[in-house]
Amino acid sequence: MQSFFILCGLCALCGKQENTLMMTQRTLVLIKPDAIQRGLSGEIIARFERKGLKIVAIKMLQVTPELAHRHYAEHVGKPFYPALVEYVTGSPAIAMVISGPEAITVVRLMVGPTNGLAAPPGTIRGDFSTSHRLNLLHASDSEASAEQEIAAFFDVSEIFDYDLELAHWFR
Ligand code: CMP
Repeated sequence: MQSFFILCGLCALCGKQENTLMMTQRTLVLIKPDAIQRGLSGEIIARFERKGLKIVAIKMLQVTPELAHRHYAEHVGKPFYPALVEYVTGSPAIAMVISGPEAITVVRLMVGPTNGLAAPPGTIRGDFSTSHRLNLLHASDSEASAEQEIAAFFDVSEIFDYDLELAHWFR
Protein backbone atom coordinates (compact mmCIF):
# COMPACT_ATOMS: atom_id res chain seq x y z
CA MET A 1 0.00 0.00 0.00
CA GLN A 2 1.52 3.31 -1.13
CA SER A 3 1.26 6.26 1.26
CA PHE A 4 2.49 9.84 1.18
CA PHE A 5 2.07 13.19 2.89
CA ILE A 6 0.07 15.99 1.40
CA LEU A 7 -0.57 19.52 2.64
CA CYS A 8 -4.34 19.75 3.03
CA GLY A 9 -5.31 23.44 3.13
CA LEU A 10 -9.11 23.37 2.87
CA CYS A 11 -9.36 19.62 2.95
CA ALA A 12 -12.93 18.24 2.87
CA LEU A 13 -11.64 15.02 4.36
CA CYS A 14 -10.39 16.42 7.67
CA GLY A 15 -11.01 20.18 7.69
CA LYS A 16 -7.61 20.75 9.27
CA GLN A 17 -4.64 22.67 7.95
CA GLU A 18 -1.79 20.31 8.59
CA ASN A 19 0.22 17.51 7.08
CA THR A 20 -2.00 14.47 6.90
CA LEU A 21 -1.07 10.94 5.94
CA MET A 22 -2.99 10.03 2.80
CA MET A 23 -3.44 6.39 1.90
CA THR A 24 -3.71 5.06 -1.62
CA GLN A 25 -6.95 3.10 -1.70
CA ARG A 26 -8.96 1.12 -4.24
CA THR A 27 -12.71 1.36 -4.55
CA LEU A 28 -15.41 -0.30 -6.64
CA VAL A 29 -17.56 1.91 -8.84
CA LEU A 30 -20.56 0.41 -10.62
CA ILE A 31 -22.00 2.56 -13.40
CA LYS A 32 -25.59 1.39 -13.31
CA PRO A 33 -27.93 0.68 -16.25
CA ASP A 34 -29.67 4.08 -16.16
CA ALA A 35 -26.34 5.90 -16.66
CA ILE A 36 -25.51 3.74 -19.68
CA GLN A 37 -29.00 4.05 -21.16
CA ARG A 38 -28.79 7.83 -20.74
CA GLY A 39 -25.37 8.01 -22.40
CA LEU A 40 -23.65 9.23 -19.24
CA SER A 41 -20.97 6.57 -18.81
CA GLY A 42 -18.31 8.58 -20.67
CA GLU A 43 -19.07 11.70 -18.61
CA ILE A 44 -18.85 9.71 -15.39
CA ILE A 45 -15.59 7.96 -16.30
CA ALA A 46 -14.10 11.28 -17.47
CA ARG A 47 -14.85 12.93 -14.13
CA PHE A 48 -12.82 10.32 -12.26
CA GLU A 49 -9.98 10.54 -14.79
CA ARG A 50 -9.90 14.34 -14.69
CA LYS A 51 -9.77 14.24 -10.89
CA GLY A 52 -6.48 12.37 -11.20
CA LEU A 53 -7.78 9.00 -10.09
CA LYS A 54 -6.53 5.86 -11.80
CA ILE A 55 -8.80 3.25 -13.40
CA VAL A 56 -7.12 -0.09 -12.69
CA ALA A 57 -9.97 -2.34 -13.90
CA ILE A 58 -13.02 -1.79 -16.09
CA LYS A 59 -15.59 -4.01 -17.80
CA MET A 60 -19.20 -4.10 -19.00
CA LEU A 61 -21.29 -6.86 -17.51
CA GLN A 62 -24.84 -8.01 -17.03
CA VAL A 63 -25.43 -8.07 -13.28
CA THR A 64 -27.18 -11.34 -12.44
CA PRO A 65 -29.83 -11.61 -9.71
CA GLU A 66 -27.30 -13.66 -7.70
CA LEU A 67 -24.60 -10.96 -7.96
CA ALA A 68 -27.19 -8.25 -7.17
CA HIS A 69 -28.31 -10.21 -4.12
CA ARG A 70 -24.71 -10.56 -2.93
CA HIS A 71 -23.85 -6.93 -3.67
CA TYR A 72 -26.96 -5.54 -1.98
CA ALA A 73 -27.26 -8.14 0.80
CA GLU A 74 -27.63 -5.42 3.45
CA HIS A 75 -30.77 -4.13 1.70
CA VAL A 76 -32.60 -7.49 1.45
CA GLY A 77 -36.06 -7.10 2.99
CA LYS A 78 -36.22 -3.32 2.57
CA PRO A 79 -39.26 -2.03 0.64
CA PHE A 80 -37.13 -0.80 -2.27
CA TYR A 81 -35.13 -4.04 -2.62
CA PRO A 82 -37.19 -5.84 -5.35
CA ALA A 83 -37.23 -2.73 -7.56
CA LEU A 84 -33.49 -2.21 -6.91
CA VAL A 85 -32.67 -5.73 -8.16
CA GLU A 86 -34.93 -5.30 -11.18
CA TYR A 87 -33.22 -1.99 -12.00
CA VAL A 88 -29.63 -3.13 -11.61
CA THR A 89 -30.16 -6.39 -13.51
CA GLY A 90 -32.35 -4.85 -16.24
CA SER A 91 -29.60 -3.79 -18.66
CA PRO A 92 -25.77 -3.93 -18.72
CA ALA A 93 -23.66 -2.09 -16.16
CA ILE A 94 -19.99 -1.05 -16.12
CA ALA A 95 -17.83 -2.06 -13.17
CA MET A 96 -14.56 -0.27 -12.40
CA VAL A 97 -11.85 -0.40 -9.80
CA ILE A 98 -10.54 3.10 -9.14
CA SER A 99 -7.32 3.75 -7.30
CA GLY A 100 -5.90 6.93 -5.76
CA PRO A 101 -5.25 8.87 -2.57
CA GLU A 102 -8.15 8.33 -0.16
CA ALA A 103 -10.07 7.00 -3.19
CA ILE A 104 -12.98 5.60 -1.16
CA THR A 105 -13.86 8.97 0.40
CA VAL A 106 -12.92 11.05 -2.64
CA VAL A 107 -15.08 8.97 -4.99
CA ARG A 108 -18.04 9.06 -2.55
CA LEU A 109 -17.73 12.86 -2.36
CA MET A 110 -17.71 13.08 -6.17
CA VAL A 111 -20.72 10.74 -6.44
CA GLY A 112 -22.84 12.56 -3.83
CA PRO A 113 -25.58 11.36 -1.47
CA THR A 114 -27.75 8.37 -2.43
CA ASN A 115 -30.84 10.42 -3.28
CA GLY A 116 -30.24 12.46 -6.41
CA LEU A 117 -32.72 15.06 -5.17
CA ALA A 118 -30.56 15.71 -2.10
CA ALA A 119 -27.23 15.54 -3.92
CA PRO A 120 -25.51 18.94 -4.29
CA PRO A 121 -24.71 20.39 -7.71
CA GLY A 122 -21.18 19.48 -8.73
CA THR A 123 -21.60 15.89 -7.60
CA ILE A 124 -22.42 13.30 -10.27
CA ARG A 125 -25.83 12.52 -8.76
CA GLY A 126 -26.45 16.19 -8.04
CA ASP A 127 -25.82 17.09 -11.66
CA PHE A 128 -27.62 14.20 -13.35
CA SER A 129 -30.11 12.42 -11.04
CA THR A 130 -33.45 13.34 -9.47
CA SER A 131 -34.10 9.85 -8.16
CA HIS A 132 -33.39 7.88 -5.00
CA ARG A 133 -33.22 4.54 -6.83
CA LEU A 134 -32.06 5.53 -10.31
CA ASN A 135 -28.96 7.23 -8.98
CA LEU A 136 -26.56 6.33 -11.81
CA LEU A 137 -23.77 4.65 -9.91
CA HIS A 138 -22.64 2.84 -6.81
CA ALA A 139 -19.38 3.43 -4.94
CA SER A 140 -17.95 1.43 -2.02
CA ASP A 141 -18.50 3.05 1.37
CA SER A 142 -15.60 1.58 3.39
CA GLU A 143 -12.32 -0.31 3.03
CA ALA A 144 -14.04 -3.54 4.05
CA SER A 145 -16.84 -3.18 1.49
CA ALA A 146 -14.40 -2.05 -1.22
CA GLU A 147 -12.35 -5.21 -0.74
CA GLN A 148 -15.46 -7.41 -0.74
CA GLU A 149 -17.08 -5.68 -3.73
CA ILE A 150 -13.89 -5.67 -5.84
CA ALA A 151 -13.56 -9.42 -5.24
CA ALA A 152 -17.21 -9.97 -6.18
CA PHE A 153 -16.91 -8.15 -9.51
CA PHE A 154 -13.31 -8.81 -10.60
CA ASP A 155 -10.82 -11.62 -10.81
CA VAL A 156 -7.34 -10.52 -9.67
CA SER A 157 -6.10 -11.08 -13.25
CA GLU A 158 -8.48 -8.31 -14.44
CA ILE A 159 -6.95 -5.67 -12.15
CA PHE A 160 -3.90 -3.82 -13.49
CA ASP A 161 -0.93 -2.47 -11.59
CA TYR A 162 0.63 0.41 -13.52
CA ASP A 163 1.92 3.93 -12.97
CA LEU A 164 0.15 7.01 -14.27
CA GLU A 165 2.93 8.85 -16.09
CA LEU A 166 1.36 12.22 -15.19
CA ALA A 167 0.84 11.38 -11.50
CA HIS A 168 3.46 13.90 -10.37
CA TRP A 169 1.37 16.67 -11.98
CA PHE A 170 -1.56 15.84 -9.73
CA ARG A 171 0.06 15.90 -6.28
P1 CMP B 1 -26.39 2.42 -4.04
O1 CMP B 1 -25.40 3.46 -3.63
O2 CMP B 1 -26.04 1.48 -5.14
O3 CMP B 1 -26.78 1.56 -2.73
C1 CMP B 1 -28.03 0.95 -2.57
C2 CMP B 1 -29.01 1.34 -3.63
O4 CMP B 1 -30.38 1.14 -3.29
C3 CMP B 1 -28.92 2.85 -3.83
O5 CMP B 1 -27.73 3.18 -4.47
C4 CMP B 1 -30.20 3.13 -4.59
O6 CMP B 1 -30.10 2.74 -5.96
C5 CMP B 1 -31.15 2.18 -3.87
N1 CMP B 1 -31.86 2.85 -2.75
C6 CMP B 1 -31.37 3.14 -1.53
N2 CMP B 1 -32.32 3.70 -0.77
C7 CMP B 1 -33.43 3.76 -1.53
C8 CMP B 1 -34.75 4.23 -1.32
N3 CMP B 1 -35.12 4.75 -0.13
N4 CMP B 1 -35.63 4.14 -2.31
C9 CMP B 1 -35.29 3.61 -3.50
N5 CMP B 1 -34.04 3.12 -3.78
C10 CMP B 1 -33.13 3.21 -2.79
